[in-house]
Amino acid sequence: MTLLEVENLSIAYQTRGGVSLAVDAASFSLEKGKSLGIVGESGCGKTTIGMGLLRLLPENGIIQDGKVLFEGQDLLQISEDEMRTIRWKKISMIFQAAMNAWNPVQRVGEQIVEAIRIHYPDYSRDRAVKEVEDLYQLVDIPRNRLFNYPHEYSGGMKQRAIIAMALTCHPDLIIADEPTTALDVIVQDQIIQKIKEIQKELSIAVIFISHDIGMVAEVCHDIMVMYKGKIVEVGKREEVFVTPMHPYTKSLLSSYLTLDGVFDFEDKANETVCQPDTIIDSHICGYIQHCQEADSSCLREAPRWQEITPTHKALCRLCK
Ligand SMILES: Nc1ncnc2c1ncn2[C@@H]1O[C@H](COP(=O)(O)OP(=O)(O)O)[C@@H](O)[C@H]1O
Ligand SMILES: [Mg+2]
Repeated sequence: MTLLEVENLSIAYQTRGGVSLAVDAASFSLEKGKSLGIVGESGCGKTTIGMGLLRLLPENGIIQDGKVLFEGQDLLQISEDEMRTIRWKKISMIFQAAMNAWNPVQRVGEQIVEAIRIHYPDYSRDRAVKEVEDLYQLVDIPRNRLFNYPHEYSGGMKQRAIIAMALTCHPDLIIADEPTTALDVIVQDQIIQKIKEIQKELSIAVIFISHDIGMVAEVCHDIMVMYKGKIVEVGKREEVFVTPMHPYTKSLLSSYLTLDGVFDFEDKANETVCQPDTIIDSHICGYIQHCQEADSSCLREAPRWQEITPTHKALCRLCK
């Protein structure tokens, strides 16, 4: 059953130089209990999509067009009050670098108890504490660490507590934006495994945002590749990995290819950044300058979606 259906979502930022488009007509969907990875280099619009879905864009962010249908209801059409009942209870988000957002002078468990009681005012303190204890068990933090201060937690523990916080209202969807950035590789892996485990155990849908396609492949059923504000390829994990179609997806994957042609996800890819020439021009393929496969027709004609299977498609004139 479809949980989320995004149609033609376009988001721009008002800047001193004018309005700049950050997400260009994004359409995708997510089934209940499934996971979708959004991958692409820094600046391609991943966070903007995540924030846009929850209507948490910065003040200069403008949703220009589109629909965000969550359980059939368009989140872009409801009032801010109605939206507040969706955030956390139905959709929660693990923000980039969230683990640094713990209030340093308040015990971590206390901060989660407080959050629970804001959403469930009729809960007694004991009941809220019991909830946090259950969540801590789920994210593997010993109960005796519940009321430590943030500085007494390791980085991994702080991030697992953030996951616990995201689960407090039993959401149907979690948007995790680069949830392992700033953690060392071993801890990154533990967090990824934890998210995967929880996703399966609680049947929660997850949108996992990362610049690292290998990491996304660890967690997600479906993968969506973005380049300069546009979705350029979507498909099931196996489809995107075994038969990548878009030249950009191929280049992302090539950093994982070993000499014998096998993908090696242990060797994490370096993050690349969108070039400052980021101009979204809907008429020409945005990847043309870097594309090894482009021919002169790519300069004349707009890229178009090619469907490889009913679930796998890419925005490229040339891929077959
Ligand atoms: N508050 C903002 N004001 C203006 N431009 C922004 C703002 N936030 C992001 N952008 C621009 O929007 C584009 C997409 O950014 P973002 O969604 O953060 O990308 P990603 O998460 O993929 O790194 C980038 O070009 C970025 O510079
Ligand atoms: Mg981001």
